[in-house]
Amino acid sequence: MNIDLKGKTAVVTGGGGVLGGSIARSLAENGVKTAILDIRREQLEQRVLELASDNAKGWVCNVLDQESMEKVQEEILAQWGRIDLLINAAGGNMPGATLTETQTVFDMDWADFNRVTDLNLNGTVYPCLVFGKTMAKQGSGSIVNISSMAAFSAITRVPGYSVAKSGVSIFTQWLAAEMALKFSEKIRVNAIAPGFFIGDQNRAVLINPDGSYTERSKKVLARTPMKRFGDISELNGLVHFLCSDRASFITGTVIPVDGGFSSFSGV
Ligand SMILES: NC(=O)c1ccc[n+]([C@@H]2O[C@H](COP(=O)([O-])OP(=O)(O)OC[C@H]3O[C@@H](n4cnc5c(N)ncnc54)[C@H](O)[C@@H]3O)[C@@H](O)[C@H]2O)c1
Repeated sequence: MNIDLKGKTAVVTGGGGVLGGSIARSLAENGVKTAILDIRREQLEQRVLELASDNAKGWVCNVLDQESMEKVQEEILAQWGRIDLLINAAGGNMPGATLTETQTVFDMDWADFNRVTDLNLNGTVYPCLVFGKTMAKQGSGSIVNISSMAAFSAITRVPGYSVAKSGVSIFTQWLAAEMALKFSEKIRVNAIAPGFFIGDQNRAVLINPDGSYTERSKKVLARTPMKRFGDISELNGLVHFLCSDRASFITGTVIPVDGGFSSFSGV
């Protein structure tokens, strides 16, 4: 049973990053016209250059800025005519919003808390409103959000990130219902919940400068039955499936890709 996405048009936010970049590459390589959006121009240009595909184009875009996204959307529609898929990969934790080993929640910086919740929650909600509106007009589309293990059970030191990702999970369920009830059953909204993959935003807490695993990494691996981090390519199969018509009766789900982390008690 093949998954055929050829001819579809996708928007991937955070496509200059590690996971978004890998997803964008896999879509473009499978014949999807892929609009790669990122706030960091350099990373974005590098990503598009590496891909060297007629199917991939980059746009500098801030997912927290409605005007920025609407302008980009106009250009994508002028170029490719429709938006079938939206992958919301912009996000991630931030150094200031991660408590140190010795801090408690009462040391949390409120401004950093606001920044990390804004990016991870609103940075998913707002693109759904802009690009999802086009899907509502078309009467079809598939949205894939990115939640996290931090939305399943408590992960120490990242209170803001955890709250925001829990918001992403419930917003995914909420929007799935809204789209099917008020627009079309052909607009589906799901989320993937990656376990632990090494990205730019979490490298410092997982890998020491000398390349060895941090104590936190060792705790993660102890709770992961597969005893390893994920390879970024291991998200692509699920994303392709959720984007495809093979998943035509699947909406409102949050699916872990985690080597068993979320299902294991550790005992
Ligand atoms: N790496 C992991 O283990 C892991 C696990 C669970 C969930 N996630 C989630 O997956 C997503 C991607 O993570 P990653 O590890 O690839 O991180 P990353 O830092 O490599 O990529 C995130 C990208 O988002 C971009 N971005 C940040 N703010 C933006 C904005 N306002 N507008 C547009 N783009 C913006 C960044 O420039 C960056 O390129 C995030 O939502 C993250 O929380 C990652």
